[in-house]
Amino acid sequence: PDDYKPGDLVIPDVQVSSSDSSDEKSVRELIRPSLEKMLRDAKSADLDLVMNSGFRSYKAQSFYFNNYVKQSGLEAAKKFSAEPGHSEHQTGLSFDLSYKDRSCYLETCFGQTEAGKWLAEHAHEYGFILRYPEGKTDITGYQYEPWHFRYVGKDVAKEIYEKKLTYEEYLQSLGLIAI
Ligand code: DAL
Ligand code: ZN
Repeated sequence: PDDYKPGDLVIPDVQVSSSDSSDEKSVRELIRPSLEKMLRDAKSADLDLVMNSGFRSYKAQSFYFNNYVKQSGLEAAKKFSAEPGHSEHQTGLSFDLSYKDRSCYLETCFGQTEAGKWLAEHAHEYGFILRYPEGKTDITGYQYEPWHFRYVGKDVAKEIYEKKLTYEEYLQSLGLIAI
């Protein structure tokens, strides 16, 4: 539903973008401990990461999407921004990460940075997947987003990581969707 909002949103104890609304600083309590641990461990590896966007309401996604359409046109916008009501950010289970200094902020070069590489290798240990991998646009519908992670739980994340699947391919392997 358009007004879907998880009932357990909390602001995690991680660095969050100060310009975000309190909604966008939030994620579901379900993922809070895993997110906090991942960013603590990243910090121990000398990676100073900030969460930029967690939960996004339908309204917030409409605002972003409409702006992208104005800037880039509908077809281009749909490749990097979900239409309102279709963003996994509205589940409260997804979030975008960046370096505190914003190097390669929401740019594909983030994937080549130490942080991008560390996250791609370790996110599954905390139950997260890199949701829109490189070269999988035909399957996911979205461009490569090395900053965007989604919680699926440790067992599923491990399988997706080890078999190099997208979430769509994983769901298809269970007979839940047809790609
Ligand atoms: N950038 C992702 C696809 C979103 O808008 O949810
Ligand atoms: Zn995102």
